[in-house]
Amino acid sequence: MTTYKHPHGHVFYRKMSHARPKISHGEGIYLFDEDGKRYLDGSGGPLVVNVGHGRSEIVAAMSEQAQKAAYVHAIMFTNEPTEQLSSELAELVPIPNSRFFYLSSGSEMVEGAIKLARQIQQARGENGRSTIISRHQSYHGMTLGALGVSGRPGLRAPYQAMFLDMPHIDPPNSYRDPISGEEAAERLEEAILDTGVENTAAFLAEPISGAGLGAIVPPDDYWPAIRAICDKYGVLLIADEVLVGMGRTGKWWGIDHWQVRPDIMVTSKGLAGGYFPLGFVAAKTEDVELIRQKLGDWNHGGTFSHHPVGCAAALATLHIMQQEKLVENSATLGQKLGQMLQAALGSHPNVGDIRGRGLFWAVEFVQDKASKTPFPVSQHLAWDIWQQAFAKGLIVYYSQGCADGKNGDLIMLGPPLIVNEANLAEMVAILTEAVYEALPVR
Ligand SMILES: Cc1ncc(COP(=O)(O)O)c(C=O)c1O
Repeated sequence: MTTYKHPHGHVFYRKMSHARPKISHGEGIYLFDEDGKRYLDGSGGPLVVNVGHGRSEIVAAMSEQAQKAAYVHAIMFTNEPTEQLSSELAELVPIPNSRFFYLSSGSEMVEGAIKLARQIQQARGENGRSTIISRHQSYHGMTLGALGVSGRPGLRAPYQAMFLDMPHIDPPNSYRDPISGEEAAERLEEAILDTGVENTAAFLAEPISGAGLGAIVPPDDYWPAIRAICDKYGVLLIADEVLVGMGRTGKWWGIDHWQVRPDIMVTSKGLAGGYFPLGFVAAKTEDVELIRQKLGDWNHGGTFSHHPVGCAAALATLHIMQQEKLVENSATLGQKLGQMLQAALGSHPNVGDIRGRGLFWAVEFVQDKASKTPFPVSQHLAWDIWQQAFAKGLIVYYSQGCADGKNGDLIMLGPPLIVNEANLAEMVAILTEAVYEALPVR
């Protein structure tokens, strides 16, 4: 197999020690490298490729828009795909009468959301409110503002002196800290009181935990209690739906599982199906209007905001999701995936927990089921399993640190939402082989 070891050529990548094959093309849930090896995209690349690879409808919509006008500056013009996408999304998001601002990556959207929260508070005359409370073991992105609110120590460490550290509370964790949602939400109230109500702009969290904790679903009373605390203290609630939005968990948005309405919401990964880097920050019209009336403008932006080709890609992606009922598929097949994982891996002595919602599942590995002791991070277990699976033609998503911020190995699955039951069976079979190879049972 041709592989490209680091260093080679003139490119460098984040992970520098391993070889990587060159991709030739993708089709549905599969990717093919230049030697013809097939990979089942069990992580949807990761959790981006909701509608599958090689969708000609999306390519056609992008090409049509690029031919008409590939780029227009959002300070001077609006464009049809952006207007149309926003009207259609307004019917889907849990923020009534919402407005949308577009940029590219999830990190950019999180930066946008925390700055928007600040400006909404300023427009309300609450000038002291600039602190954003978030959660430990969360992930909100790599830019400095997003790192300040993220809760993954390893990613933050080298840059700690360069960003403003925001207060973090412990998240609910059904596996390692099974308390009620109300009790977990009380941590927010304490943090607001510690910070000072007059200093607290917003609370930011992932409705269902993403890569940091691995598909932890909070107790049913958590989000309603969080909403009530935010209301009590005039704190804005920001839902980071970058990973769990766009149907990933079997509803359009993760927070829809609890019918809670955030004040601000962001998504990115699946919005344009991986065909274009596009994300949005959504807010209530009344808050956007308040900024217009009191501050004049929102002091934020970006050269590539409201990109017409990106919005055309997102619109085509959205239509495929609706026509092919992919959110429903995520809900029904997600349950099947959970059952299959449980049947195949539940009895493995080192599988501590299998959890998830919709088509987002995680397997947490432990040295011992009873004590839940994680493997030491230096063992790189998740990476080992990832490599075994990759060699067998399955792409999964891995992370470390779910147990205590440093140790704790996770493998996550988030296949394209177009999968069928046979695809899931193939995925689980390969993953099971990879797990038993990395962790043989004697
Ligand atoms: C919940 C969440 N927020 C923000 C981000 C950052 O997104 P990006 O990698 O596109 O900058 C991610 C990425 O994984 C994420 O999962």
